[in-house]
Amino acid sequence: MRIAIIGTGKMGKAVTTLAEERGHAIHTIVHRTENAGGRALTRERLDGADVAVEFTRPDAVVTNLERLIGLGIPIVTGTTGWGEELPRITSLADQRGAALLHAANFSVGVHLFFRAALDLARAFHGRSEFNVSIFEEHHQTKLDAPSGTALLLQHRLWAEEPGRKFPISASRAGDSPGTHTLRYEGQYETVTLTHVALNRQVFAAGALSAAEWLPGHTGVFTFEQMLFGSAA
Ligand SMILES: NC(=O)c1ccc[n+]([C@@H]2O[C@H](COP(=O)([O-])OP(=O)(O)OC[C@H]3O[C@@H](n4cnc5c(N)ncnc54)[C@H](OP(=O)(O)O)[C@@H]3O)[C@@H](O)[C@H]2O)c1
Repeated sequence: MRIAIIGTGKMGKAVTTLAEERGHAIHTIVHRTENAGGRALTRERLDGADVAVEFTRPDAVVTNLERLIGLGIPIVTGTTGWGEELPRITSLADQRGAALLHAANFSVGVHLFFRAALDLARAFHGRSEFNVSIFEEHHQTKLDAPSGTALLLQHRLWAEEPGRKFPISASRAGDSPGTHTLRYEGQYETVTLTHVALNRQVFAAGALSAAEWLPGHTGVFTFEQMLFGSAA
């Protein structure tokens, strides 16, 4: 496969390395300095790419997606912090018959964690003697807080128990690739469920699997839909 890499930060580099290890060709690599307003994403530059993998920043992703949708290139994006634009981008992609797969988290384990979290929420449903909270921790350079993963977990938990608050607290320090905890605290006992990403490679591997899967599909997909056929 010929892959265009958009963004050369920690994730862009990790995906590039893994793609080459898996025998894919890197069609082009697009850096921030040449891509103000998405101007490097041209037909000439992208012609021949089978898929684009986009890991940039919340203030750049939407323009990049608009440009790539316009060019008809299948897109995998893992950039977080643009959820309010998702409905507009989804309808643009649908109008153009584009292929877009987005995920706030490309770890398979985190999506299994979501399923376990919903089971836990069902068990604690209505037990107001327990205080429930979500805690997430990421490296100090992560720009958005709370994480897209924590927000998605909160959304799923609200659907499971409407009316209950699932407050999120976030920490930005050190080099943690991402830790998410769901905690039920009683007066004398605590139940916690935690997912810990040990290394960014887990996200790069998931994004690359998505890039291998997406070409040939039409529509807007989540990583969960790719993994399980539906959301939790
Ligand atoms: N979905 C997942 O599983 C997952 C996993 C990890 C991270 N993420 C998310 O993915 C995004 C990137 O994470 P990261 O750790 O790679 O961050 P990062 O190390 O800060 O890298 C972001 C890169 O994007 C570049 N960039 C900014 N605007 C651009 C533009 N218009 N065109 C091309 N490149 C541009 C930046 O360039 P400069 O270096 O020149 O500023 C930087 O190299 C974040 O939103 C993060 O939350 C998602």
